[in-house]
Amino acid sequence: MSFSQIGVVGLGIMGAGIVEVFSRAGYQVVGVAESAAAVEAGKSNLTKSLARAVSKGKLTQDQSDEISARVLFGENFDLLANCDLVIEAAPEILSLKVEIFSKLDAAVKPSGILATNTSSLSVTQIANATSRPAKVIGMHFFNPAPVQKFVEVISTAHSDPEVVAEVIELGNSLGKHLARISDQPGFIVNKLLLRYLNHAVQILDSGQASKEQMDAAMREHSGYPMGPCELLDLIGIDTCVEILKTIHADTKLAIDEPAVGMVELVSSGKKGRKTGSGFYDYSERLDAPTDSNEAVKSQVHNDLLIAYLGDCIAMEATGYATKADIDSGMKLGCGLPEGPFEVIEKMGIEKVRSAQAELSERTGVVAYQPLPL
Ligand code: CAA
Repeated sequence: MSFSQIGVVGLGIMGAGIVEVFSRAGYQVVGVAESAAAVEAGKSNLTKSLARAVSKGKLTQDQSDEISARVLFGENFDLLANCDLVIEAAPEILSLKVEIFSKLDAAVKPSGILATNTSSLSVTQIANATSRPAKVIGMHFFNPAPVQKFVEVISTAHSDPEVVAEVIELGNSLGKHLARISDQPGFIVNKLLLRYLNHAVQILDSGQASKEQMDAAMREHSGYPMGPCELLDLIGIDTCVEILKTIHADTKLAIDEPAVGMVELVSSGKKGRKTGSGFYDYSERLDAPTDSNEAVKSQVHNDLLIAYLGDCIAMEATGYATKADIDSGMKLGCGLPEGPFEVIEKMGIEKVRSAQAELSERTGVVAYQPLPL
C-alpha cells in the first residue's frame, strides 16, 4: 500500500506534533478537531514550532511555507474520506475514543487504516467500535512528536499482519524507530515511565524530598533531559493520572495508584504546561531546577533509579518486551542518555539486586524486591 494522505484527529500538543511529523516528511495531511477553537490551537502549535525551526536556521522560510501548505485543517470528519491512514490523538477517555472510531469508520474509505495514539487504553476495545478491526492498530508517539524518534506499534488479536508491516515501513520512512508490542496497558515505555513518575510524586507527597531536589537529582546524577516533575508538566498531569488508572486497574498494586499530589493538582486545574502551571508555574521562562542538598539528591536518585531498573528487569524477564526494545524506547522515546540495560551492565547486576533488596526492606514495598534468580 502506498500512503499519500494522512489524517490526524485531535489537534492538542500530540496531534499537532504528529501533523508536523508527516507534513515535514512530505505527506499531504488533514488535521481535524472538534471545534473551531481547537482547530485554531492546532494551527497555532504548528506555526509556532515551524517558526522556531526557521529562527534556529533548521528550516528556510520557503520550506516552512511548503510544510504548512501541505496541511488542510478543519472540523468535519468528511475531510478524512480519502486518507490512507488516520491517527486519532484525542484525550485518554475510552468512551470518547470509541465514539471517534465509530465516526471514522463511517467517514474514511474502507481501505483506510485507523490508528490510535492512545497512551495506555485498550486498542482492542477501540477496534471493536469499527467494522474494520483488522485495520485498526495503535501508533503511539512521544512528546514532542517531532523530536522523539520512538513509536510503539500496537497490534491486537484482530490486526492484519500486513497492515502492521505497512505501518512499520511508513514509520521507518519518517526516520522513527518502531517497536511492535501487543495490546497491554501502558505498552512498553509508559508502563515503566509512569511508575517512575508516580514514585517521584509519592516521595514528594511523603515530604522526603522537594520537586527541585528530585528534578535536579535525575538531571545531574543520570543526565536525564528533565526531572520527573518537569516531565509530568510536559506530558500533562491529567494524562498521567489517566494512564496510571489504566495501569493500576491491571496490576492492582499500590505503587501504580495515582499519587495524591498529582490528583490534587489536576483537581485544581493545574495540569502542567498546557494550562500554564502544574508542579511549576510557566508564566515566566524557567531555568533547570537546582538544589544543593547532595545527600537528599543522592538518596532520591538511588530510590527512583533502582525501582525503575527493577521494573525493566521484570519486564524483560517475563517476556513482555526485549532488552533492545526497552533500551530503545527509553532512549529514543524519552531522550534518556542510556537505556536501562546499559545502566545495569555498567553497575553490575549483583549491585542492582542488592540495592533492590535494600530499597524494598527500607520502604516495606514488596514490589521493589529483586526477582528470584
Ligand atoms: N516541537 C518541535 N520541536 C521541539 C519541541 C516541540 N514542542 N520542543 C523542543 N523541540 C526541539 C527544539 O527545536 C530543538 O531542536 P534542534 O536540536 O533541532 O535545535 C530540540 O528539540 C531541543 O530543544 P530545546 O533546545 O529547546 O530544549 P531541550 O534541549 O531542553 O529539549 C526536550 C527539550 C526535547 C523536550 C527534552 O527536554 C526532552 O527530551 N525531554 C524528555 C521528554 C520526554 O520524556 N518525552 C516523552 C514523554 S512520554 C510520552 O510522551 C508518551 C505518553 O503517552 C505520555
